[in-house]
Amino acid sequence: MIEQIESIRSEALVAIRGAASSSELEALRVRFLGRKARLPLLLREVRMLSDAERGKVGRAANEARAQIEAEIEARAHALRVSELDERLARERDDLTLPGDPPLAVGAAHVISALTRELEDIFIGLGYSVLEGPEIETVHYNFDALNHSPTHPARDESDTFYIDAETHGGEGARLLLRTHTSPMQIRAMEAHPPPLFVVIPGRVYRPDSDATHTPQFHQLEGLAVGEGITLADLKGTLLAFARAVFGSEREVRLRPHFFPFTEPSVEVDVSCFACSGRGDLADGSRCALCKGEGWLEVLGAGEVDPNVFAAVPDTAANTPGYDPERVQGFAWGMGIERIAMLRYGIPDLRLYFENDVRFLEQLR
Ligand code: PHE
Repeated sequence: MIEQIESIRSEALVAIRGAASSSELEALRVRFLGRKARLPLLLREVRMLSDAERGKVGRAANEARAQIEAEIEARAHALRVSELDERLARERDDLTLPGDPPLAVGAAHVISALTRELEDIFIGLGYSVLEGPEIETVHYNFDALNHSPTHPARDESDTFYIDAETHGGEGARLLLRTHTSPMQIRAMEAHPPPLFVVIPGRVYRPDSDATHTPQFHQLEGLAVGEGITLADLKGTLLAFARAVFGSEREVRLRPHFFPFTEPSVEVDVSCFACSGRGDLADGSRCALCKGEGWLEVLGAGEVDPNVFAAVPDTAANTPGYDPERVQGFAWGMGIERIAMLRYGIPDLRLYFENDVRFLEQLR
């Protein structure tokens, strides 16, 4: 047996040293060390030998195997080096060739880019950015926001409800949020006052025409603390209007109604196409504001005390939202609406068709 082992060993070493490529070497590894190779088979037979033989033969076989393994490793390393050298010599780059033309570079979609710009404006005013769920409950979307039980927005024709079994009555029923305002409640549940947050996100309503798409984006704002008034709201939104539409802009508030703010207002920005005059230099009527001099940009108001009362006091928001102690304002703006005004694009659907020829013009 010792002779057999010696002959396998010398045969293997000659073959390995002569291997001309990594693949040839791999074939040799299988041939000499693989499961069905002679040496491993021999090793398995060692335990059937007499005590005197077993030690000697076993040692010889193990040594032979270790040497073959080491030789394969050494040869593999040498082959890898020479194969790499060969490839580098063959594939040397010609640095005098012209470079590849640059690939088309992508960019953020106009709605994403504008959302980030708006976030940045409010971050600059000390706000934090929060996001929240698009699938909401009736509780957060309507009840906690002081909607009367018969408010028309609750109607099946104005809200996408989700057909799913829920527990906890009508308030637990699921829907696609119709506005980002439910995040006012979630933000107050999670954080104590003073609170200054903006919440961008998708919202859903069953509307579809040139100025309404079933899915669109809003940026909600909420500021709560002691002694925050409507004057603070106006100053904040004036800063926003000037950052987005130009430093000459003015804002005006018109009375309105929302269930969750009192008083509620609609906020107009002076028209940037005609500088608020309503007509252009040549005397024609301004097409953007239709001669009004003002553009409606968002809804807002002072947070209704009933909304504060709907926020439970918890460890997370201690000292809580006592309407006798804290006041605040909120607003909600349609991001597509801001984009339509700013870029003069009258059809909302263009934003969602994702025709690159359109989107490229707004980069
Ligand atoms: N959620 C309202 C809407 O979608 C906008 C709004 C937000 C109004 C916050 C007042 C305060 O129309």
